[in-house]
Amino acid sequence: MTTTARSETLAVKTAAKPSVTPDRFATSLGVLTATLGSAVGLGNIWKFPYLTGENGGAAFLLIYLACTLLVGLPIIVTEHMIGRKGRGDAITSLRRLAPNGPWWLIGASGVLAAFLIMAFYSEVAGWVFAYIFKSASAGALSTDPATTSAAFDSLVTNPVLSLFWQWFVLILVGIIIMIGVSKGIEATTKRLMPVLFGLLLVLCVRSLTLPGAAEGLTFLFKPDFSKVTGEVILVALGLAFFKLSIGMGTMITYGSYYGDDQNIPVNASRVVFADLAVSLLAGIAIFPAVFAFGFQPEAGPSLLFITIPAVFASMPAGQVFMALFFVLTGIASLGAQLSLIEVPTAYLIHRFKMSRKWATIITISSLMVVGSTAALSNSLLSHVKLFGKSPFDLFDYVSSNILLPVGGLFLALLAGWVLRYDFFKEALSNGGKLKNERFVRFLYIIVAFVTPLLVFLILLNSLNLF
Ligand code: TRP
Repeated sequence: MTTTARSETLAVKTAAKPSVTPDRFATSLGVLTATLGSAVGLGNIWKFPYLTGENGGAAFLLIYLACTLLVGLPIIVTEHMIGRKGRGDAITSLRRLAPNGPWWLIGASGVLAAFLIMAFYSEVAGWVFAYIFKSASAGALSTDPATTSAAFDSLVTNPVLSLFWQWFVLILVGIIIMIGVSKGIEATTKRLMPVLFGLLLVLCVRSLTLPGAAEGLTFLFKPDFSKVTGEVILVALGLAFFKLSIGMGTMITYGSYYGDDQNIPVNASRVVFADLAVSLLAGIAIFPAVFAFGFQPEAGPSLLFITIPAVFASMPAGQVFMALFFVLTGIASLGAQLSLIEVPTAYLIHRFKMSRKWATIITISSLMVVGSTAALSNSLLSHVKLFGKSPFDLFDYVSSNILLPVGGLFLALLAGWVLRYDFFKEALSNGGKLKNERFVRFLYIIVAFVTPLLVFLILLNSLNLF
């Protein structure tokens, strides 16, 4: 072999070896904000409040907190750990760390989960973008439940509008990926996140000072366990997975960008905490207003869209703030969607050696077809029910409540029983440099024993087996 040839082979080898990837986050702040860019999205602002409202308030919130602590935190740490050790996307990292056995299937189920999530998430993001324009019209901005509900219904029962906004979002996401500005969008998302946080704070103050606001706080913080069923617990578990973007390998990819000296357990705890803070703010912005104006807490997926305008209607310059709110939420949803769409796109690139352009075109166009059944769930396809659910609800249910928890169950089993404690200790203390043995041992015990048992029991319980 000539010297040039050898150095070329070397160059190729080094390029393929992820340990020298330039895509490494230099600072802990970089990892934190990037991870939050995927985690914070419609799950916090739209899904968390509506599920809390639909499932009885404080009791649901408590169960959700328990799931976040006993399942969410340990699994996000596990995914980051697997990613940093495996230095690759989900399937590659899993193949490297656990070559024996079908553990890579977790990554494969993640591809399906990401696709199904995008099929309905893009529709909700479409509503968000539509509402930027609705804030300019009188109909949407009102404190009257009947008026704001009618404004929402006029959007979702109109097949042309529903489809238009979903396809608008999908094409926007596709363009962002194809012209290669995803990094730019992620950077924008990061910078705008504090603004969204600030605006949520303003909304909380307005909502909390409405006459009759106290009842909303009681609903959110005073538990009544009479509504808790096996199904409610499963929904809380599914929400914990969905909100933290775990159970399907997205966080493994983020872990692969971690530097060797960064503190995974601390960083993951911060992500969990910040994600929770955003959700709670959304809840405190919404529920006092729900009771002050006489909305129904169990309104379902429409909750955000019918109640937030009422809060804006009762503050000065409400229209401008409402437009800003939906712009920021729309951008946050784009950050989450970029992390989702990357999963099926990267799969097509690796599996079929496709170019990024074609992989994106195929993913986006299949989402336009499959997702349209979710977009039309309230109009042309309102009579279509599979297993008693509309296509929109079915995509959400199968991904959040089945695929993500099952993925999480297997990730916990892999980490606890195949990789084991010594692996944890070495990986999470950065080879002994961090003095965090107690925290790591605690996390290990949860991952190995508590997480899998809890997820397994919740899944079984929801089948009404006991
Ligand atoms: N966590 C995001 C949200 O709350 C949604 C999301 C992005 C997601 N990537 C994911 C959910 C991966 C599950 C898996 O809006």
